[in-house]
Amino acid sequence: MHHLRIDIDRLLGRINALGEIGRVNGPNGEWGSARIALSREDALGRDLVVSWMRDLGMSVSVDAIGNAVGTWPGSDPTAAPVMMGSHIDTVRTGGRFDGNLGVLAGLEVVETVQQAELRPKRSLQVAFFTDEEGARFPPDMLGSLVYVGGLALEEALDAIDSDGVRLGDELNAIGYAGSIPCPAAVFPHAFVELHIEQGPLLEDEQVTIGAVTGVQGISWTEVTVTGQSAHAGTTPMRLRRDPMVVAAQVVTEARAIARRMGGTQVATVGHLNVFPDLVNVIPSRVTFTVDVRNTEEDRLQQAEQALFAFARRMAAEEGCDITTKPLARFKPVEFDDRMIDLVEKTAQALGHSVKRMPSGAGHDAQMLARVCPSAMIFVPSINGLSHNIAEDTAPADLAAGANVLLQTVLTLAHE
Ligand code: HGY
Ligand code: MN
Ligand code: MN
Repeated sequence: MHHLRIDIDRLLGRINALGEIGRVNGPNGEWGSARIALSREDALGRDLVVSWMRDLGMSVSVDAIGNAVGTWPGSDPTAAPVMMGSHIDTVRTGGRFDGNLGVLAGLEVVETVQQAELRPKRSLQVAFFTDEEGARFPPDMLGSLVYVGGLALEEALDAIDSDGVRLGDELNAIGYAGSIPCPAAVFPHAFVELHIEQGPLLEDEQVTIGAVTGVQGISWTEVTVTGQSAHAGTTPMRLRRDPMVVAAQVVTEARAIARRMGGTQVATVGHLNVFPDLVNVIPSRVTFTVDVRNTEEDRLQQAEQALFAFARRMAAEEGCDITTKPLARFKPVEFDDRMIDLVEKTAQALGHSVKRMPSGAGHDAQMLARVCPSAMIFVPSINGLSHNIAEDTAPADLAAGANVLLQTVLTLAHE
């Protein structure tokens, strides 16, 4: 089986076909996809991937939070399966590879094994998890978190988006409110997720494969600052209680704290909403999100405490009220040493350069790691870009990653 290799043209064909659903074109020929979780585009993407699973003779099960799992049976039906997978929902300016690669490379592995007329001991599964991005319905990795029992199904179904739409209603509307209970009754023997790095490290060091050691801690918070709306022309500066000033101070302090802390500390304000959002009105309310991350839990807590103490102080000085609402909070996750070793040794056996590295982005694998040995395989992102329609990875690197996935999964499926 070590001679087996995936078919990169077939894999690219599926990546581009899925990418066409919700296609977004850029000014210089770059293109990506917009398939926000549980949108019509997400539904069409789901239907296409499920049809590919069925074309491969896989049985498909959909659970109560909409996670879909295709299964191709192994020779021993009593042995727990080996699962591959990731997500196919995207951010609004998504690329063709984030999440999609891990799902479609899983299908490519199954098809390659079928064509070689191999029948591994363990069944092979390919999953896509609901709402990994969390951009519409936080937290991120929502579907895999419910799958492993980390979030109650009812609480997840009651999540509300910024338009007041309920997650459970959207799931029903797209026909993916499945009958399989959550959390899953049986967990995989092991889980392996192929994913683009979404950052610059592999490319900078000219390394082909990342053997991912874990996922950094993630903290998402929605902050609402409320002041006094008034006329922009007639209100003297000394009488103002302007929430926009507080928000601006917090945005720049987030950057300053990350700079001061150094290391892997990152901080981002990606969403900001102003009311009433008019040129000649001092805002009454400003709502924004803060995303802070660190590979070390104690330093992540330091960053959170410093930033929100500062925000409260600035709000008090401006005579504004401030409230915070947690949207997501995950401690750093370390993957199973044996699994990291397996990815590293498999990449080396295939002749690829490989380095161990943590993941800056959240992934479904960090949730599966709660219930079974899990691993991630990274491939380089050109210019380190992701969550951007210019996201791209060289076909040779995609093939390398998919072949490492194939051989890693075959090892696990025969043990
Ligand atoms: O936010 C993340 O890290 C992931 O893309 N959901
Ligand atoms: Mn992803
Ligand atoms: Mn993403």
